[in-house]
Amino acid sequence: LPDGLPPGGLSETISTYRTIIKTCLENGVVLGADTRATSGEVVADKMCAKIHYISPNIYCCGAGTAADTEKTTDLLSSNLTIFSMNSGRNPRVVMAVNILQDMLFRYRGQIGASLILVGWDNKGPGLYYVDDNATRLSGRMFSTGCGSSYAYGVIDSGSREDMTVEEAYELGRRGITHATHRDAYSGGVVKLMTI
Ligand SMILES: *[C@@H]1O[C@H](CO)[C@@H](O)[C@H](O)[C@H]1NC(C)=O
Ligand SMILES: *[C@@H]1O[C@H](CO)[C@@H](O)[C@H](O)[C@H]1NC(C)=O
Repeated sequence: LPDGLPPGGLSETISTYRTIIKTCLENGVVLGADTRATSGEVVADKMCAKIHYISPNIYCCGAGTAADTEKTTDLLSSNLTIFSMNSGRNPRVVMAVNILQDMLFRYRGQIGASLILVGWDNKGPGLYYVDDNATRLSGRMFSTGCGSSYAYGVIDSGSREDMTVEEAYELGRRGITHATHRDAYSGGVVKLMTI
């Protein structure tokens, strides 16, 4: 569980995620996660999904309380689906992050979610970190969850400005694998995707 996140929600299942995202400014965005969800010392789910669909051009990786990350990303997705049906176009990434930050700030830290929102729109790639305190950061590489420091060790030392998507994908895979070895709350399999 990331530092300072309240246990939150009705669910006992706390998913501890380590999520890696790497952007390659011209070519694409890579995101990935492990699949372990824990409830105290017990592995509650070894194949949970931590990469959530938001819209055809946006996905979101979530760490924190499983129920909260699921619900938050579901709400965001339905909000943006209504937007797309009304306007006939995909949402911009910055619009998604604005709504997400708004939703989380309304609960003043009571939602246990630390999210990495990733997408692609007419401005190219967008990559944001948003958490339950409504912290919002924009950058080219983020990792979150209890295994994130292990993953950062690998991705920080291996990243370069001019990486290709394939290299970023491989680096993400190594980072997550490393974290599943060192962090007891990360495990299962490594899932990766590119946009
Ligand atoms: C949210 O803010 C509180 C109070 O400032 C802090 O204790 C906590 O660590 C923050 N949570 C995150 C996830 O940064
Ligand atoms: C989507 O979220 C925004 C910001 O919270 C809100 O203003 C808007 O009404 C929502 N749209 C729908 C269809 O729920």
